[in-house]
Amino acid sequence: MITWGISANSHDAALAVFSDDGLEFASHSERFSGVKNDAHLNDKLIEYAKKWGEPDEVIWYERPFVKTLRQLRAGQGFKYLGKNNISKYLGSYGISAPIRYTDHHLAHAAAGYYTGPFTEASVVVIDSIGEFDTLTIWNASEEKGLRRIYSQQYPHSIGLWYSAFTQRIGLKPQEDEYILMGMAAYGDPLRFFDEIMKEFIYVVDQDSSPRIKFKHNLHRGCLWWRPELNTPQDLMDIAAAVQAIYAYLLKVVSNWARWKSPSGNLVLMGGCALNCAANSTIYKDWNNVWIMPNPGDAGSSIGAVLAHKKEFMPMDHVYTGYEIEGEYPVEEVLHELLTTGICGVANGRAEFGPRALGHRSLLADPRGADIKDRVNNIKQRQLFRPFAPAVLEEHAATYFDGPTGPFMQYTSTCKDPGLPAITHGDGTSRVQAVSANQSMGFRKLLERWYEETGCPVLLNTSLNIKGKPIVNNLTDAKEFANMYGVKVFTHGN
Ligand SMILES: [Fe+2]
Repeated sequence: MITWGISANSHDAALAVFSDDGLEFASHSERFSGVKNDAHLNDKLIEYAKKWGEPDEVIWYERPFVKTLRQLRAGQGFKYLGKNNISKYLGSYGISAPIRYTDHHLAHAAAGYYTGPFTEASVVVIDSIGEFDTLTIWNASEEKGLRRIYSQQYPHSIGLWYSAFTQRIGLKPQEDEYILMGMAAYGDPLRFFDEIMKEFIYVVDQDSSPRIKFKHNLHRGCLWWRPELNTPQDLMDIAAAVQAIYAYLLKVVSNWARWKSPSGNLVLMGGCALNCAANSTIYKDWNNVWIMPNPGDAGSSIGAVLAHKKEFMPMDHVYTGYEIEGEYPVEEVLHELLTTGICGVANGRAEFGPRALGHRSLLADPRGADIKDRVNNIKQRQLFRPFAPAVLEEHAATYFDGPTGPFMQYTSTCKDPGLPAITHGDGTSRVQAVSANQSMGFRKLLERWYEETGCPVLLNTSLNIKGKPIVNNLTDAKEFANMYGVKVFTHGN
């Protein structure tokens, strides 16, 4: 029995393939089409997914009829009626298997709960919008499954508000939220904190409920708010205030969920769970925390299926995408890093999620003052943005103070002043702690790097051409190498 989970037709489409043995494949559509954050499926992705056979059924990640009702209520008229015909949409890609549907927030919750390590947990889902839900809290147990205990609905949405401000500071909403988070480290959070709170938000009785109301419908953004504030420092200060307010709102929600939680285990999901800086601020309030490595809508391609299967599928790695065959080029990469300090690696199965975690990575020696500029010259991105470190798990606590994990989901304070390339303006790093449970090849590379240099840390950033998705196949890897004159190793000898 082959089941496909699909999240598409909105933004950042993804497809997951399950056989009777479990998850066989999951990938973002963009990696196959070459279009960043591609909202739609494409023939190459579908052809690759059929390596495991034709689908016997498809599970869609939300309920299109309910979504249409919300779009009507939001004043968007009937223009989406045709777009929300999923059977017609899938038919246009030659997919004719029977379709089942899942609630948008249930797909998020299931993606988190069933891939995590807890049989009992509180599940918090925060995103922009599903059908109507924008924030849900669930109690989950093996006997009773996922039970929703709180739900907040459109137009009151923490995610929409954060995206509206992403647009307000000149970035792309529903895509560049992570850049706002990065800018926040360079601003003064106090300058606009009170003003934005007063204009946009009120928290209703936070002791008895996590109800967070918004005074404006932010579906069409907030470009109208203080348009005269547009110097670079203004924008950094706005970003800092928005990030600080988000951290406060997350705390309100987390505190309430914690109060209602018999287990003290938190599963955090939804696009807002990608906010690694805020994630770190609630980490200590819980006994244990699990964030699925792809907690946004793309991860719901897996969640939609798990919501129906109701089976645990602990996810200890994210290497579920397109495969570049061959041995991991440990010695080749090591030699290049020791010689030039920078190279790419594209080997094994591609990562499912927004982070490159060693299978489609641009790697560099993190030591010294000039490496950040050298990598930035290749990546051509805003100079304030730091790069992330990958560290041997057993050395993580020596170099970083705070939560770390295998998927770059938290920030922690970097204790080594000799690593400015992987340290942000506020002194933190978004750490990937690499254990032997994840990629054998990448782990071996870090071990060899440590043996040769005494440094257990590598700079690890995604291998992608500016404006394009992360490299997927050999052709993409060659294109990257040719464009930037950087060696990319795809297999060992
Ligand atoms: Fe969502």
